[in-house]
Formats: sequence, structure tokens, C-alpha cells
Amino acid sequence: MHGPLNRNHLMFIPVMTEEAFDVIVVGSCMTDLVSQSARLPKEGETIHGHNFFIGFGGKGANQCIQAARLGAKTAMVAKVGNDSFGDSYTQNFKDNGVYTGFVGRTSEAATGVASIIVNDAGENAIVIVAGANMKLNKEELQDALPVISSAKVLICQLEISPQMSLRALRMAQENKVTTIFNPAPAIPDLDPDFYRLSDVFCCNESEAELLTGSSVNNVEEARCATRELLRRGCGAVIITLGAQGCVVLEAPESTSKHVPTSPVSAVDTTGAGDSFIGALAYYVAHYPAMRLEEVARRAGQVAAVSVQSMGTQSSYPHKRDLGAELF
Ligand SMILES: Nc1ncnc2c1ncn2[C@@H]1O[C@H](COP(=O)(O)OP(=O)(O)OP(=O)(O)O)[C@@H](O)[C@H]1O
Ligand SMILES: *[C@@H]1O[C@H](CO)[C@@H](O)[C@H](O)[C@H]1NC(C)=O
Ligand SMILES: *[C@@H]1O[C@H](CO)[C@@H](O)[C@H](O)[C@H]1NC(C)=O
Repeated sequence: MHGPLNRNHLMFIPVMTEEAFDVIVVGSCMTDLVSQSARLPKEGETIHGHNFFIGFGGKGANQCIQAARLGAKTAMVAKVGNDSFGDSYTQNFKDNGVYTGFVGRTSEAATGVASIIVNDAGENAIVIVAGANMKLNKEELQDALPVISSAKVLICQLEISPQMSLRALRMAQENKVTTIFNPAPAIPDLDPDFYRLSDVFCCNESEAELLTGSSVNNVEEARCATRELLRRGCGAVIITLGAQGCVVLEAPESTSKHVPTSPVSAVDTTGAGDSFIGALAYYVAHYPAMRLEEVARRAGQVAAVSVQSMGTQSSYPHKRDLGAELF
């Protein structure tokens, strides 16, 4: 009566009785500890700052929360520490309507944190300690198999162990769940299986550059990079280009489409990429027949709203904040 049997017993009851999830994210949670000071400290120096705040971040969690705010039924598969940051993060998911039955806790590492110092010129110095994110393991993924296999869309990034991301993508593909993979932060020698396991492979310019080895600074170069990434086995490729929107390529024989975004006055673009991906997952789940170009256009509109206010998750719009033409 111990071990797996107990675990299954506890895990399955709350979820099996409900309908399937739209979007599952297997990924990271990070607490941002942000200090603002006139300048960045030098080595060995202590200086006084003028403001401090705690924010919720981590690419996986950000994407999950954006999808949830648009109305997707979401679950997060992740690991936090057995500490107060872990408690707050779990509550943050609940406050946003994200199912937390697969957000595990560990005493072996602290909840992931990003210690950020921002100076008055907007420059920053950041130390990230992934901590508990790296402790998410294959047994926990296996526990989540019933919900992963019945979901509409699964999203993964690279802020947890790459082996766990690969495993989650495989589980999804074997069960015909649409996969969205965001290779962020990019690593130079990405396992080639990541391309074959991605129905939609979505990254920004610098990630595309690192993965292809060619510069990606404009729409033309992004078009070339989408062709190269698609050739590696992805179902479709999207490269986001900040204020220039994105480039989408769906099939090797088709031409890539440049999808511009609305001109807006950007206040803080932090987390725009995650807003885009969370929105992408929502639209793929809710409108499975919609062309990827249109899905990307709408996701770009959502992300463009997020850049118009400060913060990461705090800038992500809810469905009620957006025009009816996006739904
Ligand atoms: N200045 C902007 N004006 C309008 N839309 C923007 C702007 N910046 C970003 N966006 C929207 O957000 C999407 C993603 O932005 P971007 O390509 O900068 O991602 P990213 O580099 O991963 O973001 P970040 O690292 O800042 O979170 C863009 O495709 C676009 O739709
Ligand atoms: C978390 O810590 C509490 C004590 O503070 C302990 O009782 C509990 O077993 C721990 N849980 C895990 C998962 O380590
Ligand atoms: C792309 O995303 C990474 C995070 O994965 C970020 O560090 C980088 O600045 C982004 N690049 C651009 C051009 O926005």
C-alpha cells in the first residue's frame, strides 16, 4: 500500500473526473527578486537601492498563465522548493485558475529564483538559480501522463532538465497531442530529437541565430532561418521579431509569411515572448482548424498588449481586456 499505489490513488481522483485540459505546460517556475538602484554595484561593493519587488516568472509558468488568462483550461507540471517562495508560487497558479496537482515540492533545492538588479538606465545584472526546476523527474512526468495524453496542447521550454522536456514532448507526440516547443534559453547543441518532436517550434531572433549559426536580424534573415529549422524536422516554425511581429513557415514547399504586429508604444517588453507562446497555445487548443498564420497574428496582438505595461505576468491581458475580434 505504499509508493506508487498511494501516489496514483491521490493523483488520479481530482483530475479523472473532470474534462481534459486544453493546455499543459511542463516547465519552470522562478521567483524574481528585483532591486532597483542608481547604478550596478562593483565587485565586493555594497550599495543602497531605492526600490524592491518580488515578481512571478519562469518561462513555463509565464506561458501557462497567459494561456489561462485567455480562457484555456490549464495545468502546470513543475517543481518548487519546500519553502515560502514555493507556497506563494502555487497560490499564484491557483489565483490564475491553473491546476496545481502536478506542481511538486522538494526539500532538496530551493524554488527557482532570479536575483535581478536594475539601474536607473534600465541596464541589469541577473543571477538565476534554477534550483527545484532541475529536480523535476521522470516519475513525476509519468504521474502526469493521464493529463498529458488527454490534453489538446503541450508546451515545453529549456528551463528544466532538457531530458525531461524531451520526455514530455515524446509523451505528447505518442498521444497525438499538439506540441509547441520554445528552445529558450537556447543551447548550442540542441538534441536533434527536439525538432522532430515539435509540431510548432517557436523562438526569438537570438535563439534562431544560435541554433542556425547564421545572423537573424531582419525579416529576410528570419525567413532563411525558418527554412533551416523546418528542414531539421519541425512541423512548423515561428520566429518572433519584437516590434516587427514574426515570420511563420508551415511546410517546406510553401513560402514563409511575415506577420506584422500593431505599432504600440512599448513600456516594458519583458516576458513578451512568453505571452506570445501562451497565447499561441490557447488559440491552437481552441481553434484547431485555424491557419497558423492567423494564430500567430492573434498571439502577436496579445503580446503587443503585454508590452504596454510594466512587469512580466502582471502585464499579461485577460480575455476581458481584449477585443472580440481576437476570439
Ligand atoms: N515593441 C513591440 N511592439 C509591438 N509588439 C511587440 C513589441 N515587442 C514585442 N512584441 C510582440 O511580442 C512578440 C514577442 O516579442 P519578442 O520577439 O521580443 O520575444 P522575446 O525576445 O522572446 O521577448 P522577451 O525576451 O523580451 O520576453 C512579438 O512577436 C510581438 O508580437
Ligand atoms: C516540507 O517541510 C515540512 C517541514 O517544514 C515537512 O514536514 C514536509 O515533509 C516537507 N515536504 C517535502 C515534500 O519535503
Ligand atoms: C530572446 O530570448 C532570450 C531568452 O530566452 C533573451 O535572453 C534574449 O534577449 C531574446 N532576444 C531578443 C532579440 O529579444
